[in-house]
Amino acid sequence: MKTATAYAPGRVELLGNHTDYNQGLVLAAAIDRGLTAHGTLRTDGRVVLSSQILGRRHELLLADIAPSTEAPWVNYPLGVVNELIAAGHRLQGFELELSGDLPMGGGLSSSAAVEVATALLLMKLHDLHIPPLALAKLCHRAENVFVGVPSGLLDQATCVFGRADHAVFLDCQNEAIQTVPLPPEFALIIASSGAAHALVAGEYSTRREQCLAAAQALGVSSLREVSSAGLENASVSLDLLLRRRAAHVTGENERVATAVQALRRSDGAALGALMNASHESSRVNFENSTPLLDRLTELARALPGVLGARLTGGGFGGSAIVLVQAELATAAAEQLAVSFRCETGLDATPFITRASDGAR
Ligand code: GLA
Repeated sequence: MKTATAYAPGRVELLGNHTDYNQGLVLAAAIDRGLTAHGTLRTDGRVVLSSQILGRRHELLLADIAPSTEAPWVNYPLGVVNELIAAGHRLQGFELELSGDLPMGGGLSSSAAVEVATALLLMKLHDLHIPPLALAKLCHRAENVFVGVPSGLLDQATCVFGRADHAVFLDCQNEAIQTVPLPPEFALIIASSGAAHALVAGEYSTRREQCLAAAQALGVSSLREVSSAGLENASVSLDLLLRRRAAHVTGENERVATAVQALRRSDGAALGALMNASHESSRVNFENSTPLLDRLTELARALPGVLGARLTGGGFGGSAIVLVQAELATAAAEQLAVSFRCETGLDATPFITRASDGAR
């Protein structure tokens, strides 16, 4: 029976928080941790999913696929199956086993990694050819439709288009993707706030609705159409809460554009300052930080060599990303673990990551 293997990395958002579903700009990178999907075709029309990471197994008929409430983890691979079938591809039953070193629920997009690894595995097993952007969008639809999380394209696009030692610069309005070199003198540390984030739980959707409501009140199709200055001068009456939500998005778009220029001239201090400003905007305007993420990033900023720190991804828990001078990265990661543990009793398990190639 035909056997194949596919790998998909996690991702870290460097800047551009909650901009993707607002047609905005994002700067992210695929990381050097990810998930492997190993699998085989079956002739009996059955789908057998297992996860070494979760220690779970789930079996059903291909003809019976439907979102599961008792085993929500299967909705990510099954959502991809559903989208492939919807796109007109004829699939056979299969076995798929997931393994890897990407923590689940840590804000590093294990969900997109599952989706993209599943899609690539099924493409190999069935000899399907789907171009990279179409693949990212198919996986994104799987998450929106089948899993029911109204996320944007950031995670899947970064997972597919990641490039070693480069950031991925995504424009969600025209879906243009560029890669920008990350200068070797800077390193990235990812640290956990000790609390898993949960996108399905309402806050993410609420933020998305608030952004949409702000755009409607401003009379534009998306917040991408508005600048921070334009927002300040807008004559329409915009509820203060919506104004703060919109200010986060317009500010993030501008910070991403500025950060791309900063990266091109290897200006780590400028990039770090933008990351700090992003976190502050999350804390105050978007209210998607938590006291633990605030403390974690504060502790990081106080360490020698650290240029900037912010929450990464959806927020409401999850991880922080720290930009640090490469030669001081190991010491900073060790010290951050110690100081966060002393203060909170929690394990931030900071690790140095390297921008890595996308799914393969
Ligand atoms: C999560 C979502 C992404 C994006 C980020 C916030 O990671 O999956 O689509 O919206 O949050 O930038």
